Amino acid sequence: MAKIGNTDLGDFSLWLAPMEAVTDPPFRSLCKTYGADVLVSEFVSSDAIVRQKSLSKMDFSPKERPTGIQIFGHDEKSMREAAEIAARWKPDFIDLNWGCPVRKIVSKGAGSGILQDIPKMIRITAAVVDAMRERGIPVTVKTRLGWDESDKPIVEVAERLQDVGIAAISIHGRTRSQLYAGQADWTLIGEVKANPRMHIPVFGNGDVDSAAKAALMRERYGVDGVLIGRAAIGNPWIFAQCKQFLATGTESASPSFKERRQVCLELFQKEIEAKGERVAAQEMKIHYPGFFKGIPHFKPAKMQLMLCSTFAQAQEILEDFETGMTGNCQTENSPLSIPMPDSFSKPKSAQGLM
Ligand SMILES: Cc1cc2nc3c(=O)[nH]c(=O)nc-3n(C[C@H](O)[C@H](O)[C@H](O)COP(=O)(O)O)c2cc1C
Repeated sequence: MAKIGNTDLGDFSLWLAPMEAVTDPPFRSLCKTYGADVLVSEFVSSDAIVRQKSLSKMDFSPKERPTGIQIFGHDEKSMREAAEIAARWKPDFIDLNWGCPVRKIVSKGAGSGILQDIPKMIRITAAVVDAMRERGIPVTVKTRLGWDESDKPIVEVAERLQDVGIAAISIHGRTRSQLYAGQADWTLIGEVKANPRMHIPVFGNGDVDSAAKAALMRERYGVDGVLIGRAAIGNPWIFAQCKQFLATGTESASPSFKERRQVCLELFQKEIEAKGERVAAQEMKIHYPGFFKGIPHFKPAKMQLMLCSTFAQAQEILEDFETGMTGNCQTENSPLSIPMPDSFSKPKSAQGLM
C-alpha cells in the first residue's frame, strides 16, 4: 500500500502526469471524473510564485484530492519560499520538477539541468523538505534517469533523495539528452523499485499509452503506480480503461463519438469559465486530436477545429460531423500510438516541452 504522507494511494495508482498548458484545473478535474487517482498541477516557476505571479495555476478543488503542486527552479531560497507560498493552497504534496528538458529551463540549472549537479539537487530538495516538515506537507520529486546515455545515476540519486526525506519519487524513463525521443527505458525504474534500501513509493513514467501497457509496467517493474502524460491529452477515458483492465483483465469499449463530442465541449466550456473564450479556444487545440483519434474521416473536421476560435464554432463543427456520419462510429482499431498531437501548433507555453 503506497502512501504519500498520510495519503493512501492503494497498491497501484494512476497519475495524470504534470503537463504545462495541459493539466490545468479544468482538465485535471475531468481526468479525476474518469478515474485518475492522483493529479499534479502544471509546473509553476518558483521565481514567479515568489513574485506573486502564476498563482492561479496552483488552484484546485477539494474533490480533486489528492493533488500535488509542482514547482521548478534552480535557486534554493526561491524554491524554499515558493514551496512555503504553495503550502497555503494546502496541496497533498509539493512536487519538485527535476526532469524538465526544455533548454531555457535546463540552461539555468533548473528542471533536468540539475542532473548535472546532483549535490545541488540534493541540497535544494533537502531545503524544501525541511521547510515543509513543520507544515506537514510531504515533498516528492519527478525526475529522469540522468543527463545522457553515459550518465544515468538514478538508482543512487533516488536513494540520496529518499535520505533527505522525500515521500515518493516519479521517474520518467529517459535521460535529458533524449528529450522525448526513442522509447522510455523502464529497466532502471525497475532497479530503483527493487533496491532493498528504497522504502518510499516509486512511480514510473514514460510511454504508458494503454491499459495493457500500464498493467505490463506494474507486472514487470513492480512500480507503485504510473504517470500517464501524452496519452491522456484529449483522452481522459484512459484512466477508466486502465482501472477496468487492472481489475478484470478486460478491455473497455472506446467511447462513442457522441460521448467524445460531449466531453470535449464540456472541457471547452470549463476552460472558458477558467480563462475566457480566446485562451480556451487556443488551449483546446492540444486536446482535439486525442478526443477524436481513430474516428474515421474526421480529418477535415479536425482541421476546422484547429482554426476555430469560439465555442459556438466548435460545437457546430462537431454537430455537423455527427449529422453527416453514416453508419456507426466505431473507432479504427489502430494501436494507441503516443499522440504527438499535430496540434503542435500547440499553445505557446507548451512549445518545446515535447
Ligand atoms: C505538453 C507537455 C508538457 C509537459 N509539462 C510538464 C510539466 O509541467 N512538469 C513535468 O514534470 N513534466 C512535464 N511534461 C512531461 C510529462 O509529465 C511526462 O513526463 C512525459 O510526457 C512522459 O510521459 P508520457 O510518455 O506518458 O507522455 C510535459 C510533457 C508534455 C508533452
